[in-house]
Amino acid sequence: MSPTRPHIPRQGEPHAPPLRRARLRNGTMAILILLVVAGCADGTRTPSARTAVKEAQAPISWTHYDVPEAPAQTAELAAAGAKLYEENCSSCHGATGAADGVCAGFLSPQPRDFTTGIYRFKTTPGGEMPTDEDLFRTVSLGLHSTGMPPWRYLLSDEERWALVSHLKTLSPTFAERGAGNPVDLGTEPTNVTDEMVAAGRELYIQAQCGKCHGETGYGDGPSALTLVDAFGNGIPPRNYHRAGDFKRGHTLRDVALTIHTGNNGTPMPAFDEALSEEQVWELASYVLSLAESQFAGGGTPAAADFGEHLGEPDVVVKLMERHWKYIPDLIRVQQGQIVRVEFQPTDNGLGVGHGFAVDGYDKSAFINGAMVQRPKSVTFRADKAGTFTFYCATQCSTGPLHPKMNGTLIVEPAES
Ligand code: HEC
Ligand code: HEC
Repeated sequence: MSPTRPHIPRQGEPHAPPLRRARLRNGTMAILILLVVAGCADGTRTPSARTAVKEAQAPISWTHYDVPEAPAQTAELAAAGAKLYEENCSSCHGATGAADGVCAGFLSPQPRDFTTGIYRFKTTPGGEMPTDEDLFRTVSLGLHSTGMPPWRYLLSDEERWALVSHLKTLSPTFAERGAGNPVDLGTEPTNVTDEMVAAGRELYIQAQCGKCHGETGYGDGPSALTLVDAFGNGIPPRNYHRAGDFKRGHTLRDVALTIHTGNNGTPMPAFDEALSEEQVWELASYVLSLAESQFAGGGTPAAADFGEHLGEPDVVVKLMERHWKYIPDLIRVQQGQIVRVEFQPTDNGLGVGHGFAVDGYDKSAFINGAMVQRPKSVTFRADKAGTFTFYCATQCSTGPLHPKMNGTLIVEPAES
């Protein structure tokens, strides 16, 4: 097995997976990588590359992914898993899985600490352990809108199964407790009716989802800013109007599964016991009706505008990135103004590029450029006066790796 590295571009290197990965078994992706790299050079692309790009940008759906059969659990598989983990995962998740890899400090959200055995994305309820298939899904598809990459493009089925074996050695809870039992989703409705959405809205009020997710689902409920996860990190509840932010994917089944299982180790509760299967489908229909509002008029998650509910901005900042620097690198606004940052990073055709975040400022002023389908503009209210540093929020990007990708945001105090 040739060594594999996580895709963490170094200064001056294009944001594309290394060409060496063209040996991949996934033929489409190999073509995609080759053509995208070629496309960067001369600005042209063939139709097949466009199709491949489209495929790469199709929404990730955790629950619609067909998991291939697992190979026999052998000593070779386990050894391969340990090696693959060191090469591909330890930079973020740490050598022993303690989430202390060199990149961990640059990521928001933080990579998972595997030593605790606290898993979030699974088909099993509450605090039960995930199944092997659950781990395989997350490793294969990555998690939308976070630094967790979709490894199916880089590693074979067998390699990903080997990684699943290795993950289970990083915490004793797997051996102690074994996999939990998947929840029963019941029969998925074939189409969503207005009645289901209306019933879902009622349940949303009754179940008090709005305490965290906000009355109209903007992730701005009264508890939103106080929430922390099991690792002590602040964790914003999902804003349903940003379909691209649903970590598991934004299909009816993905949302229904999350409502059943909750997200273990986060304040997101499991409603498996409290609600019937039918009620969960109704709730999921309502949640999704909000997510889909951003597709009205044929939009895509990439075209959606973060912070749109704040209304028309007072200031629009057109921010560019060229040669690993921001242009402009000084942004000056007045306190209280609604600011929209329209970011134009260099991009390798996959929609993958640099990001934007403001140190010590509103966490919603954040563009995660690393992820396919992420919007490249964000609107926020400059409610705090002062001088702040903005930086590239893409994985592993400040400090020694992107020393020049910083700028200054000056919010001038409102005149009293
Ligand atoms: C660039 C950083 C990065 C790399 C490299 C990376 N991960 Fe992750 N991973 C993350 C982040 C960030 C999360 C947490 C996302 C969240 O839930 O908010 C995560 C979450 C996960 C989870 C989810 C656990 C749960 O709670 O259900 C699994 C499983 C996982 N990673 C496995 C892997 C494996 C295996 C590899 C190597 C093949 C890997 N990761 C490489 C950043 C990374
Ligand atoms: C106590 C606060 C709280 C309550 C109450 C709550 N949630 Fe959440 N919810 C969260 C948090 C925090 C997250 C983000 C978890 C993460 O990022 O891993 C979340 C995430 C989600 C997600 C996104 C999953 C994904 O794939 O990204 C959905 C869907 C969701 N909640 C639906 C609901 C519904 C429906 C209700 C009511 C029945 C509800 N939540 C009640 C805190 C809450």
